[in-house]
Amino acid sequence: MKRWLLTGGVGFIGYHVAEALLARGDEVEIVDDFSESPYPTRYKRRNEGHLQSRFSQVSVVEATVTDRDRMNALVKGKTGVIHLAGLAGVRPSFASPARYAEVNVQGTASLFEAAMAEGIRNFTFASSSSVYGNSTPLPATEDAPCTEPESPYAASKRAAELLTKPLCAIRPEARCVALRFFTVYGPRQRPEMAITLFMRAVIEGRPITMFGDGSMRRDFTHVDDITRGVVAAADDFAYTDPTDGSVSRNQGVRILFEDGSRIVFRLSGTGTEGATLRVYIERYVGPEGDLRLDTADALAPLIAAAQEVADISGYTAMDRPTVIT
Ligand SMILES: NC(=O)c1ccc[n+]([C@@H]2O[C@H](COP(=O)([O-])OP(=O)(O)OC[C@H]3O[C@@H](n4cnc5c(N)ncnc54)[C@H](O)[C@@H]3O)[C@@H](O)[C@H]2O)c1
Repeated sequence: MKRWLLTGGVGFIGYHVAEALLARGDEVEIVDDFSESPYPTRYKRRNEGHLQSRFSQVSVVEATVTDRDRMNALVKGKTGVIHLAGLAGVRPSFASPARYAEVNVQGTASLFEAAMAEGIRNFTFASSSSVYGNSTPLPATEDAPCTEPESPYAASKRAAELLTKPLCAIRPEARCVALRFFTVYGPRQRPEMAITLFMRAVIEGRPITMFGDGSMRRDFTHVDDITRGVVAAADDFAYTDPTDGSVSRNQGVRILFEDGSRIVFRLSGTGTEGATLRVYIERYVGPEGDLRLDTADALAPLIAAAQEVADISGYTAMDRPTVIT
């Protein structure tokens, strides 16, 4: 049986990764600090409760990944480390750059050091598409230089990549993977993320707030695809496409701010461009560190177009604010 140390396992993506590993019978020890930022702790307690009520092979430890002694102890006996804990979010990182550096850089380094000392081969961690900045030609590729991050958050993720890369290089037996997630959506999504805010506004009949000048394009990736990718990376890249074996590109939901007056949720790459949902925008707020464009050429989202739309309405209905008290 595989034994995982999963950091950030009661967060949005971490919940789904934990669920996937536990459902196939693996043992999962979750580390999370249950912090109030960037969204309330009660969401994380809810996720913890749901995992513990469904699976007996999960344990949850409340600790910070910057605590070296705790990390040294927690990696013992593990098959691999999946490190998803971190401070997410571009905009809040401008207010707390030191904290972002501490958690995302030092925290990753501490955990990586602990894993190496324990002789763990598999170290998989969450980076971000934000490392591409605005200077990377699109669609972005893995070997792009990524030298101009646009925010402290992006810089912290790039720093973690750069820090672990040479350490991985001297361990040819190791499997170290930094996964550059392109904005993720789906059930249990972080409540402060744009797509959650947009969909809640739609459900409640409110206008949405738009950041930036309206020229942004953004691809989103369903959390089920992210989960498959994380598990495959942690499993030594034994990736199997559950659909037809073909790798699709740029599927998922794309948000277009069209003519500055409306937003269109549009399915891309599937030939179903007609599947749109229009929402009205009330006001504009200046951008801070947001990417103008964010499209990928290396993702393999796998869910059928119609289901994507159903999932959006499904999860926002489930996650309406009244559900969390
Ligand atoms: N959601 C996205 O669209 C997206 C995109 C790119 C990258 N990422 C990265 O993926 C990872 C997971 O993102 P998410 O959306 O699930 O965010 P999330 O905030 O829901 O999950 C992160 C978890 O890490 C925990 N955490 C934060 N600081 C910690 C610390 N010092 N010690 C232990 N735990 C700590 C939080 O309590 C939270 O439960 C993050 O590293 C994020 O930067 C997410």
